[in-house]
Amino acid sequence: MRAFQVTQLVHHSQIQLSNNVPEPIPKEGEILIDVHSGGLNFFDILQTQGKYQIKPPLPFVLGTEFAGKVAQNSPIPQGCPFKPGDRVFGAGQGAYADKMAAKYDSVLPLPDALTYEQGAGLYVTWPTSYEGLVGRAQMKPGEWVLVTAAAGGVGIAAVQLAKVLGGKVIAAAGSQEKLEIAKRYGGADYLIDYSKPDWQKDVLKITNGKGVDVVFDPVGLIQSSFKCMAWRGRAIVVGFAAGSIEKLPSNLILLKNISVVGLHWGAYRIHENERVGEVWKELLELFSSGKAKPVVYSEVYSLDTLSQGLTALEKRKTYGKVIVNIKKNNGAKL
Ligand SMILES: NC(=O)c1ccc[n+]([C@@H]2O[C@H](COP(=O)([O-])OP(=O)(O)OC[C@H]3O[C@@H](n4cnc5c(N)ncnc54)[C@H](OP(=O)(O)O)[C@@H]3O)[C@@H](O)[C@H]2O)c1
Repeated sequence: MRAFQVTQLVHHSQIQLSNNVPEPIPKEGEILIDVHSGGLNFFDILQTQGKYQIKPPLPFVLGTEFAGKVAQNSPIPQGCPFKPGDRVFGAGQGAYADKMAAKYDSVLPLPDALTYEQGAGLYVTWPTSYEGLVGRAQMKPGEWVLVTAAAGGVGIAAVQLAKVLGGKVIAAAGSQEKLEIAKRYGGADYLIDYSKPDWQKDVLKITNGKGVDVVFDPVGLIQSSFKCMAWRGRAIVVGFAAGSIEKLPSNLILLKNISVVGLHWGAYRIHENERVGEVWKELLELFSSGKAKPVVYSEVYSLDTLSQGLTALEKRKTYGKVIVNIKKNNGAKL
């Protein structure tokens, strides 16, 4: 089969597509997937170089998020709710290939309303954004919500979800182009370019001096956001896309009665497994009803051009989820 296989730890631009990789053999609890589309993540770029915390033994096939069909020759382990031919999405190692093996409990049914392209980018980002706003920030209708990197994968999902939850949403991003995306695909109410100095003053103006109740931050802008947070505000630490881990001054947290809360979605399976099902139930309903709509970056890649997609992500050029189509016509509901 075709696969984007890592045989030595190098930058992705040095990896060629392999055409003769053996099909994976599912282990206990795994099913075999015909991959239609894969979702790109920043950690893929780190993983090919051995700089990510998950280090599969060489050689390994890159890619985690996928959407596809359960393969006709897949084993169906006891308790697995799927059958061959079912449309599914989820995560496992080796998504950038014709076939991959994935644990059946890391796989979900793909709603009829969604294409494979849309489904391939859901598994990591959407529950992160949902649980950040609902479970961690306890966001209420009518509250002011500031989302940083608002056109990015988790950011644009957070903008949409905060709107669905009845929030007044201020989208913040690093360029006018990305802010337009946050408005067009996220439905943001107000737009702030955080590449400009004193952007917090504009947030205070928008909120009539009150400041925002919730900050959803995948970038590392929590300390900067303290300047425009309301009394009893909640700041959610989602990630450090800007590259450095913030050290926060606790006096500012005290002065405004602020709560700083962390969110590590990947660890819910270990510590709070029952919550995983609850979050997905809500999200699948939102997708099926059309209230939430995954956003796919305008340029969709193929296995041959995958490396260019990873480079676009690395260079901060993309918005929404960047997708690679393994099979053709994945914008349609096959
Ligand atoms: N906590 C969790 O459970 C969890 C789950 C998923 C993801 N995350 C984390 O959330 C972060 C965002 O993930 P994502 O999938 O949304 O990524 P993404 O789609 O690549 O978006 C990241 C955005 O961050 C902004 N950014 C600011 N400074 C940057 C820099 N120096 N380099 C690159 N980007 C920069 C960029 O937007 P602008 O150009 O508009 O600034 C970029 O589009 C990552 O750090 C990821 O690890 C955490």
